[in-house]
Amino acid sequence: MAISCDFLVIGSGIAGLSFALEASKFADVVLVTKRGADEANTKYAQGGIAAVLDHGDTFEAHIADTLTAGAGLCHERVVDLCVKDGPGRIRALQEIGARFDKSHQPGEGHADLDLHLEGGHSARRVAHAGDMTGREVERALLEAVLGSPRVRVLEDHMAIDLITLEKYGGPEVCAGAYVLDAAGGKVSTVLARATVLATGGAGKVYLYTTNPDVATGDGVAMAYRKGAEIANMEFYQFHPTCLYHPQAKNFLISEALRGEGAILRNTDGHAFMRSHHPQADLAPRDIVARAIDFEMKKSGADCVWLDITDKKPAFVRERFPGIHSECLKYGIDITHQPIPVVPAAHYMCGGISTDLEGRTTIPGLWAIGECAATGLHGANRLASNSLLEGAVFAHRAAEALRGIDRTKALPEVPDWDASAAASSDEAVVISQNWDELRRLMWNYVGIVRSTRRLKRAARRIAMLQEEILEYYWNYFVTRDLLELRNIATVAQLIVDGAMSRRESRGLHFTIDYPEHDDRLARDTVVKRGVAPHLRGT
Ligand code: FAD
Ligand code: SIN
Repeated sequence: MAISCDFLVIGSGIAGLSFALEASKFADVVLVTKRGADEANTKYAQGGIAAVLDHGDTFEAHIADTLTAGAGLCHERVVDLCVKDGPGRIRALQEIGARFDKSHQPGEGHADLDLHLEGGHSARRVAHAGDMTGREVERALLEAVLGSPRVRVLEDHMAIDLITLEKYGGPEVCAGAYVLDAAGGKVSTVLARATVLATGGAGKVYLYTTNPDVATGDGVAMAYRKGAEIANMEFYQFHPTCLYHPQAKNFLISEALRGEGAILRNTDGHAFMRSHHPQADLAPRDIVARAIDFEMKKSGADCVWLDITDKKPAFVRERFPGIHSECLKYGIDITHQPIPVVPAAHYMCGGISTDLEGRTTIPGLWAIGECAATGLHGANRLASNSLLEGAVFAHRAAEALRGIDRTKALPEVPDWDASAAASSDEAVVISQNWDELRRLMWNYVGIVRSTRRLKRAARRIAMLQEEILEYYWNYFVTRDLLELRNIATVAQLIVDGAMSRRESRGLHFTIDYPEHDDRLARDTVVKRGVAPHLRGT
């Protein structure tokens, strides 16, 4: 039995929930999400949302900082519209009940909200809720969405593949998706007038990541399989400071600590960032992550140290309650001890190419949030511009779809066919391939790359993909198998992008081409059946 709706939204982070909420004002929405509704990168966001909110700050400054971080690849039109829409999106979140920290000194030419400072920003402009901003934003959005009678939320429902149909001999049009109910193992057909991918990032493609388990790049992989254009996948952002502790899984130490004066030190206690960049600890993220990688390789140490012990303990506890209490669980009192940190995969700057409203290159298919490549981030995302982009593009996509014709009948589509599949008794194949893939991405396609290592990675990924495909066709699909298939595709796309870029720029640094080349300031594009290349070449 098929489920029909106006809009199918895949994903329940800031992008998917914001879109669903706005679209539900004029249409019926089905939102599928592969685990619990609040499980998304969004929930783990710490620092906050960047927007020009202080009277001393300007749109021009936020635009300039975004362009500088983006290292020559940002699309200026997109940067302009995101920055200018920022304050409005923050207000919209407040209107549905998101509570951001208030300023201690409002009215004196300052914003009503308290604002964090983060790396690459020339002013305080990051609205936050303590150091758990994502949790608050996710809570407010989810409550609003669950209260809307026109949104049906299906938890533990994982989109497997998009459904595309040829229409009147023209290009394939997206008509919805096949969706696995993880609890019952049944696959449903969901038909929609527009399908909106809001599936987030793919940190799980790397061995070490700040991302939760849901971040397996499913949207990018699904869109690629159907022939959508994918851009700039080589620009995977590594956050400089993830907690380094054997028992800690994926815990981020926010850049906002450095905004308040925390200093990175090597094992000798030396504050090393000054010798890497004039902005020292507040340099753009790619530079800080590479500097840490350099210091660790030079000394052979397993981590570096982030030191905020110069600040008053009460200030640290009040400003960073989540980080303070999480670190205490591992015996680290950040008010008195430096924090052991390492870089970890954090954010996918590339993704599914979209226009200014979120349309992909497949009619009927839209992409918003981290899974999309809108042109905002270029070769390196500025801190806290991601939640901003998710909110801005969700709003733009909903507005663009407002006038969609809702009277036409939806097409007939065959049901998912699993007749040739059997139950697998070899789950170990999945875990083995999963570990191998993530480790090889970390070792061969990490912060510092080389052509030799990329070629080695490409060969291994191709072999793993063959094994995964064979397994995929013979056995019933499970969430683990589907995620493995998707991270293998994303790994391939990252390597494809990295091999096509013969220069170092932003987050892509290769020892074989260590300088940037102005002639190559173009997006990389990858499409099924077309060799990866720089746009326009
Ligand atoms: P997500 O929030 O990741 O949501 C994706 C959703 O899609 C999830 O619900 C997932 O379950 C679902 N999904 C995925 N695949 C499928 C499928 N096949 N079927 C069904 N559902 C699926 N950015 C900032 O701007 N400021 C910050 O302070 C900040 N801090 C961060 C801290 C951490 C620890 C992390 C990990 C990220 C941080 N980021 C921050 C980045 C930011 O949180 C994310 O980029 C942003 O939340 C992405 O939102 P999204 O809606 O695009 O995706
Ligand atoms: C952080 O708080 O350091 C994360 C901010 C971001 O990823 O934008």
